Amino acid sequence: MCGIVGYVGTNKSVEVLLGGLRRLEYRGYDSAGIAVIDPAGELHTRKRAGKLQVLVDDLDARAIANGSTGIGHTRWATHGGPNDQNAHPHLGDDGKLALIHNGIIENFAELKRELLESHPDTVFTSETDTEVAALIVGLEYQKTGNLQLALRNIVARLHGAFTLLVLHRDEPGVVVGARRNSPLVIGLGHGENFLGSDVAAFVEHTRRAVAIGQDQIVTITADDVVVTDFDGNAVETDEFEIAWDASAAEKGGWSSFMAKEISEEPEAIAKTLLGRIHDGVVHLEELDALDYSLADIDRIVILGCGTAAYSGMLAKYAIEKWARIPVDVEMSHEFRYRDPIIDARTLVISVSQSGETMDTLRAVQYAKEEGARTLSICNTQGATIPRESDAVVYTHAGPEVAVASTKAFVAQVAAFYLFGLHLASVRGTLSAAEIAGLAGELQALPGQLETVLEQHEAIKQLAGWMVDTRAVLFLGRHAGFPVALEGALKLKELAYIHAEGFAAGELKHGPIALIEKGQPVFVVVPSPRGKDSLHPKVVSNIQEIRARGARILAIAEQGDASVLPYADVVIPIPLASTLFEPLLAVAPLQIFAMELAAAKGLDVDQPRNLAKSVTVE
Ligand code: G6P
Repeated sequence: MCGIVGYVGTNKSVEVLLGGLRRLEYRGYDSAGIAVIDPAGELHTRKRAGKLQVLVDDLDARAIANGSTGIGHTRWATHGGPNDQNAHPHLGDDGKLALIHNGIIENFAELKRELLESHPDTVFTSETDTEVAALIVGLEYQKTGNLQLALRNIVARLHGAFTLLVLHRDEPGVVVGARRNSPLVIGLGHGENFLGSDVAAFVEHTRRAVAIGQDQIVTITADDVVVTDFDGNAVETDEFEIAWDASAAEKGGWSSFMAKEISEEPEAIAKTLLGRIHDGVVHLEELDALDYSLADIDRIVILGCGTAAYSGMLAKYAIEKWARIPVDVEMSHEFRYRDPIIDARTLVISVSQSGETMDTLRAVQYAKEEGARTLSICNTQGATIPRESDAVVYTHAGPEVAVASTKAFVAQVAAFYLFGLHLASVRGTLSAAEIAGLAGELQALPGQLETVLEQHEAIKQLAGWMVDTRAVLFLGRHAGFPVALEGALKLKELAYIHAEGFAAGELKHGPIALIEKGQPVFVVVPSPRGKDSLHPKVVSNIQEIRARGARILAIAEQGDASVLPYADVVIPIPLASTLFEPLLAVAPLQIFAMELAAAKGLDVDQPRNLAKSVTVE
């Protein structure tokens, strides 16, 4: 959480910082602030509680002198409420140094106590852990007179997760950053350089980026970038080209980023498949560099949080069926605290849109320590989780700005399915013809999904009718179950409506007690085709709840007449086999949640209390 941007270059820091913060606002939006050194060498800061626009309006009303060096921050509160005082930057060295922070300094209370013992007159103006860091880096600067050294000497004393950016009035033209367990990426320009929590912060200025490794310090000036470890030793860095197009992170003519991102789902799947299926053969060249054979893996554990974890549930169904290997799916934050059984024959696949979710990162690090093999499925180049994994299969959904995940989900499922088919080929569990057939079904999905999205207006109307609804249930079975969970999560996140997803078969074991007259229930109905179809069982479940007064909103295959007598509303989806249906059934639920939230006048892109990239445990 929290977005960070740093800039050294020409005399336009304020614009660069605000542009970067706008693109990073998804990481937190409790408050925002900037610090700039003007050409006369004066340090100016401005910070305001509320969304970034509050800061922008304030700067419009009371401009600060522009400059060539600056740092900016958008906050998701951890220590201390979201007010002006707790907003970053925080100051040290009698107001000559400004510092911003992403993460949590776990030993801040101890550091604060030590500071008060050595400097009893210290005045704290906020409740944050960050201010303590600013003050002690400031004291260290007084001793060393060197910003890089001051920060380097202090980071060894900090416990927890942090990215820190710092600038000092006496070193105009320099921004120094340090990172441990929180993200930081460098953007390389001509006569200007950038720092950001992710590449979105500076993609409108440069496509050249460098990822910074764990426990490293970076110093940028307009013409130079120096990266060292925490001991000051030079380290090698990897430059990469940013694949995202800057305009992809713009809202365009859409009412919200989420509306735009849902509309991009077909493209997100198509781009994720692009170049990875040739004549019915799946090839993931990212896996070629692995120093072990996937044939030696005897178990898979999938780790993720929120929507990403639900994509993992679908992956379990697909990988087990196609590659005949046991797959467990677990929420990352539960995994490492229960002493899980993993070894060198276990492949741990982490899935994360941002590649920065702290719970997932820690779980991956734990898995590595225990000797497991690690693979990540990720949407963000240069992010930490792929860097910590043996290999990465990137989803190519493009930047996802709305906080609640939509297009990244379908791209994650597509990437998992590619992996599943690849593994089936390695293990010889499916014939080449079977793999080609399934790969063909995957490739047909973008076109099929286009037709589902054409129902946007009808779903919007339905959402409008349900604006006063207090609770909604979602049912699904087999591959429909993760869809039900995702539908419920979307409604909670966006519309703040109580929603729960259930496995339809579980209903009779308890949740059916929730059904009363008028209770809306979305049901993901499987295709009636196929000898093992669960269609009759789900139709029976529908009848059971309808008999108890539920209002049925069915997502069912086009032409499935069997649900018509029991459903109040049917949202048709094209014909697809069981494992592919979820990729068609989820969009109506995403649209429903988004439109219901919009009808309630809520901010669908930035729901309350959430952050897109949760970089604290
Ligand atoms: C947060 C977001 C969710 C997202 C989850 C996992 O909770 O609000 O939308 O699904 O993090 O994020 P990741 O970046 O790891 O996919």
